[in-house]
Amino acid sequence: MKDVAGKVAFITGGASGMGLAMARSFSAAGMKVVIADIEEAALERVEAEFEKSNADVLALQVDVTDRNAMEQAARRTEAAFDKVHVVCNNAGVAVGGPLDAMDYKDWDWVMGVNLAGVINGVQTFVNRIKAHGEGGHIVNTASMAGHMAIPGLGVYNTTKFAVVGLSETMRADLEPHDIGVSVLCPGVVSTGIFDSGRNRPVDLKTENDTASLVLTADVADAERAERLQQIFSTALDAALVGDMVLAAIQANDPYIFTHPELQTAVDARVAAIHESFARWSKYRSEHGI
Ligand SMILES: NC(=O)c1ccc[n+]([C@@H]2O[C@H](COP(=O)([O-])OP(=O)(O)OC[C@H]3O[C@@H](n4cnc5c(N)ncnc54)[C@H](O)[C@@H]3O)[C@@H](O)[C@H]2O)c1
Repeated sequence: MKDVAGKVAFITGGASGMGLAMARSFSAAGMKVVIADIEEAALERVEAEFEKSNADVLALQVDVTDRNAMEQAARRTEAAFDKVHVVCNNAGVAVGGPLDAMDYKDWDWVMGVNLAGVINGVQTFVNRIKAHGEGGHIVNTASMAGHMAIPGLGVYNTTKFAVVGLSETMRADLEPHDIGVSVLCPGVVSTGIFDSGRNRPVDLKTENDTASLVLTADVADAERAERLQQIFSTALDAALVGDMVLAAIQANDPYIFTHPELQTAVDARVAAIHESFARWSKYRSEHGI
């Protein structure tokens, strides 16, 4: 979708981090933007920011795990801006820790936001975009954790691999309808993701809440702050990601790899898969299969 000016974008998790960066980049390119997010205080901040610049921005409080709320948000978007062309299924949360330390509540929360939230965005908007016939673009936010297994991130890994698979299939399905699909696969970006627990519903909280990538119950506050500082010292600025996503929509790029230096990890995984194919090929010929 080369010509984005005047088009309408709906961004989940748009009130902070990379979603907000997308909103800023899209708005600067002349798009109308709906920011859908669960976090009230963050929504108030972005509303004030965009009001100042007189931008066409609508901020809605939406929980992406709530299908009815997503449908209502789509209706409010159409009432305000008539159509939707671009959907960024970006809201996401993370828990850290080994799989055997996970509670069902960890699974339910992270699968709910990171995977069901993306599915709900797809179900709510794809047929609407097809129906208006002007074409469009879907950006699903996965992660490099959708391409490489990261010890201590099993729940998150599960959701992000699924989002990569979903996006690849959607891209093939929607191409005939002039709807592009990109999957955003960042490495570490300085955002609020390490403090995801701020949006964790009360009924999905656990006693030993591993609500953040670096906040496990056994990590003291000072150590956590130090770890975060270390992580952010090499993290990518979220603002750059907003512009990359805009460029990917305009070029219909399948993958948005914000951290090309991480290609070696993907290469290692692919090499291991090739080796496995070779072993099984040998097995079959040795067994005459
Ligand atoms: N920051 C990173 O290093 C990194 C790396 C790879 C992928 N990601 C992914 O990027 C996406 C954006 O995260 P971010 O890093 O900008 O973090 P962030 O915490 O700054 O932003 C996430 C946003 O999602 C919102 N959100 C959380 N639960 C929600 C729900 N149920 N309904 C609606 N909104 C909800 C939050 O309020 C927040 O505004 C996520 O999908 C995350 O998994 C982040």
